[in-house]
Amino acid sequence: MSNADLDKTARTILIENDQGGYTIPTKGLYPYQWNWDSVFVALGFATFDQSRAWREIEMLFEGQWRDGMVPHILFRKDDPSYFPGPSVWGTDGGPIPSSGHSQPPVAATVIKDLVDADGSGKALERAVKLMPQLMNWHRWYLAYRDPKDLGVLAVIHPWESGRDNLPDWDEALRAVEVKDIGPYERKDTSHVDPAMRPHKEDYDRYLSIMAACRNVGWDPQKVAETCPFFVADPGVTFIFLRANRDLLILAERLGLDAEAEEVRGWIRKMEAGAKTLWNDELKAHVALNERTGRQTDGISSASFLAPYAGLADQTTLTSLQGHFDRIASKVRYLMPSYDPDHRNYEPLRYWRGPVWAMINYMIARGFAEAGDNERANRLRQDTADLIATGGFAEYFSPENGAGAGGGTFSWTAAIWLTWASPSHQEQAA
Ligand code: GLC
Repeated sequence: MSNADLDKTARTILIENDQGGYTIPTKGLYPYQWNWDSVFVALGFATFDQSRAWREIEMLFEGQWRDGMVPHILFRKDDPSYFPGPSVWGTDGGPIPSSGHSQPPVAATVIKDLVDADGSGKALERAVKLMPQLMNWHRWYLAYRDPKDLGVLAVIHPWESGRDNLPDWDEALRAVEVKDIGPYERKDTSHVDPAMRPHKEDYDRYLSIMAACRNVGWDPQKVAETCPFFVADPGVTFIFLRANRDLLILAERLGLDAEAEEVRGWIRKMEAGAKTLWNDELKAHVALNERTGRQTDGISSASFLAPYAGLADQTTLTSLQGHFDRIASKVRYLMPSYDPDHRNYEPLRYWRGPVWAMINYMIARGFAEAGDNERANRLRQDTADLIATGGFAEYFSPENGAGAGGGTFSWTAAIWLTWASPSHQEQAA
């Protein structure tokens, strides 16, 4: 397929997955609105319809809870082909039925990108309306995912990280007692090959965490205190730190002085806090189980997001470049979601090895901003090659580029349009 055809296919995927203002990740496997998927999708729409891009994010924020949380899934219509649906979550925190936790907060960054891309001033008007909601979401994150004021954010469920099946969650997940779950029937394994999905033991625990939170009525304070899973995540932490830098720029541009001052405090706290995730043996940032105080022992694709978060001091950058080159010598396509030298690496089981386009996009952005255009370009080229050969798949094998998981996937299409497509680069040049 030519690049022009791929551009066209990518636009068609977004249009066909559009449910009237919000977009599902892919038909069948993920039939609802997912939080960070939608935000990346907005970047894709912005390449041909800026107003539609804003609508995507506005509809996501329509589901914001009274306490400030923006849920990871909005169940706008019932779809029996998905499990666990709204009745299993048992939430009551916002205006739209939803899951009970959040997902990586990329929204402020993308909103700033949309404002930057617009010359008419209309984008700024739409951003102004979202500012209070963004501020409340970020306040919620700090209050309930960093209750000890460490300057890092925890996730209360592997799904909150957006990197659902990462080996980093294994130990903390095994410590979760399986209870209050009853018999259940998974739906994910009827849509895609079970060999690519989590094991049943994991699934039992995913549901047990949900049950524990349901038992405290999803009260955010009680969840923070009692949830059996509470692991500081470099992915969410770095995405949040970056989002705060972009939020600050927006607040300054809009003359919101008090908000700007508040966000500056968050940035300072997180810049210092991120050090607690630094693993001195591995020379990279890793996850930290806050219930046990133990760090994990593997490098994940989120370790490479430190520069994206603005943490690009010489030590961090040099060691990440070393890891980047080591991993590049092991696999054909970057960046695998987990270190191929680690015992828990699996090239096709999701989040234990495969490559995701939107993670590559964020890593590359950080590396380019830190002055490393060579590695940033390598990531872009690999992403373009993966899509050209594997199609608009959910994710790809780092070893042979095979597309896997769901097909006709929205965020893969969006990342192609906004960044990986060679025609986009020609326009940008
Ligand atoms: C999977 C991914 C998650 C994503 C969702 C929809 O659950 O792990 O990050 O948001 O699919 O694409």
